[in-house]
Amino acid sequence: MSEPIRVVVTGAAGQIAYSLLYLISKGDVFGQNQPLILHLLDIPPMMGVLEGVVMELTDCALPLLREVIPTDNPEVAFKDVSAAFMVGSMPRKQGMERKDLLAANVKIFQVQGEALDKYARKDVKVLVVGNPANTNALVCSRFAPSIPKENFTAMTRLDQNRAQAQIANKLNVPVGAVSNVIIWGNHSSTQYPDGSHALVKINGTERPVPGEIKDDAWFKGYFLETVQKRGASVIAARKMSSAMSAAKAAADHMKDWFSGLAPGKFVSMAVVSDGSYGIPEDIVYSFPVTLKDGKWSIVKNLEIDSYSKGMMEATAKELEEERVDAFAIINKL
Ligand code: NAI
Repeated sequence: MSEPIRVVVTGAAGQIAYSLLYLISKGDVFGQNQPLILHLLDIPPMMGVLEGVVMELTDCALPLLREVIPTDNPEVAFKDVSAAFMVGSMPRKQGMERKDLLAANVKIFQVQGEALDKYARKDVKVLVVGNPANTNALVCSRFAPSIPKENFTAMTRLDQNRAQAQIANKLNVPVGAVSNVIIWGNHSSTQYPDGSHALVKINGTERPVPGEIKDDAWFKGYFLETVQKRGASVIAARKMSSAMSAAKAAADHMKDWFSGLAPGKFVSMAVVSDGSYGIPEDIVYSFPVTLKDGKWSIVKNLEIDSYSKGMMEATAKELEEERVDAFAIINKL
């Protein structure tokens, strides 16, 4: 057994955290030989609820979980953490303007970025789940200049998992047979789910998915819309947003980042753009990445046709607009 590592989950009294804390604590993310000290951050009015979550974690009797620290203080929450799941954010309330929502979140991610900068380990891996996730990650990184910007990522893994499941369903194969599905861009309705580089394993051989589906209209129609609008469909049905699947995706993202991927495999993560594929630098954009030794690398030189290029540029444009709005707010602070 190794020494325990410290992991923080923000928004710890919320619904995604309710599923995520169990996945983390039972070893699904950091492995079965990695003991954990969990730091749970939420806002003062939620401390009573958080107490109940701590009771339940205790009652799960999980051998890897050595200590649980509930708090409303960012200094306590981010102290010496190796991994940060940033789930807490300001939800959009009825009648709220997009700019007001962005302003509330800029403030939250400024405070938490500064706390990461001061108190977390310098190699902390940060996953932002709270929306607008990509731009929140950019803001968080901006306020944590002593931590490499490569350590700040946002989650598009739920979108990837949704896309992978749709392809598996279409091909009538188990979901684990499908790999290398890409989500480009923003975790919003402008995201571009791209199955054109995906692979499927049939009878032990990996084959390109487009050659198996042979239906370009399906990719550009049903597939695209289903993945882009899946979040809204879940809300319409459940009257609450995706939580179990979001937690599973957050666990998948962090697990792969810590433990790496098999050669030839890639996943999608929103990371700081280095200009690959003509995407503007300095936005947090979802790219296909390989993962090795705790580091991500953007997959280069994939063939991009003009349709894909247009879709990739549209979602980049939205992220550039979000960045302008977020930095206008920061400059006024
Ligand atoms: P929720 O409302 O159930 O929980 C959010 C929690 O965050 C609440 O307990 C709230 O008190 C807390 N919180 C608010 N401000 C905070 C702060 N400054 N510090 C610490 N905690 C704070 O929401 P849920 O369903 O758990 O979703 C959380 C976020 O994840 C939302 O922004 C949602 O839009 C986003 N989301 C992102 C997905 C993605 O794929 N990137 C998928 C699904 C949800």
